Amino acid sequence: MSLKIGNVELKNNLILAPMAGVTDLPFRLITKKYGNPGLVCNEMVSAKAICYNDEKTLKMLEMEETERPISMQIFGSDPESMGEAAKFVSQKCDILDINMGCPAPKVVKNGDGSKLLLDLKLAEKIIKSVVKNSSKPVTLKIRKGWDEEHVVVEDIAKIAENSGVSAIIVHGRTRNEFYSRNF
Ligand SMILES: Cc1cc2nc3c(=O)[nH]c(=O)nc-3n(C[C@H](O)[C@H](O)[C@H](O)COP(=O)(O)O)c2cc1C
Repeated sequence: MSLKIGNVELKNNLILAPMAGVTDLPFRLITKKYGNPGLVCNEMVSAKAICYNDEKTLKMLEMEETERPISMQIFGSDPESMGEAAKFVSQKCDILDINMGCPAPKVVKNGDGSKLLLDLKLAEKIIKSVVKNSSKPVTLKIRKGWDEEHVVVEDIAKIAENSGVSAIIVHGRTRNEFYSRNF
């Protein structure tokens, strides 16, 4: 079965999920060769670091033409720098993904990743800024919510749809469940 995200046709519905510290260029090339996914995703990169031209971060955006179609993921909680990063990164990739799912303490303590699921007004501003500045279809990666008391998946899906997001990807756990197997 094929899949279409915005104007990007995928040859099948297999997607290599973004994984920080894992889905770098060599890993993606190996996956492409042996797994034949319809879409590969890079590791998440910080929007602010892109705006600061951080060398290590820019290196994380390196890719090869044979990888296309490729999705690149950015994270951050400042609508302006997310917009700036969207402008830059969307020139390289085929699909631009927003991270609103990362549970890592060092990320959420800055208000980034899954912390945004507790502030849907800010989440909406970020999504709109990214969509406005991206030259490629935008997708949104979320979790169910922050915790069982704050399951917001339907609310944010509606915000995303009304803001021009082409697809949402749901990690079906809350932030507090991290990567646990106890559903
Ligand atoms: C090591 C690791 C790193 C991850 N990094 C990211 C990331 O950078 N961005 C993201 O959206 N999801 C990230 N994820 C989440 C995965 O993309 C995926 O949504 C999640 O693991 C759910 O799939 P599973 O139930 O098969 O683990 C990461 C997961 C793992 C295990």
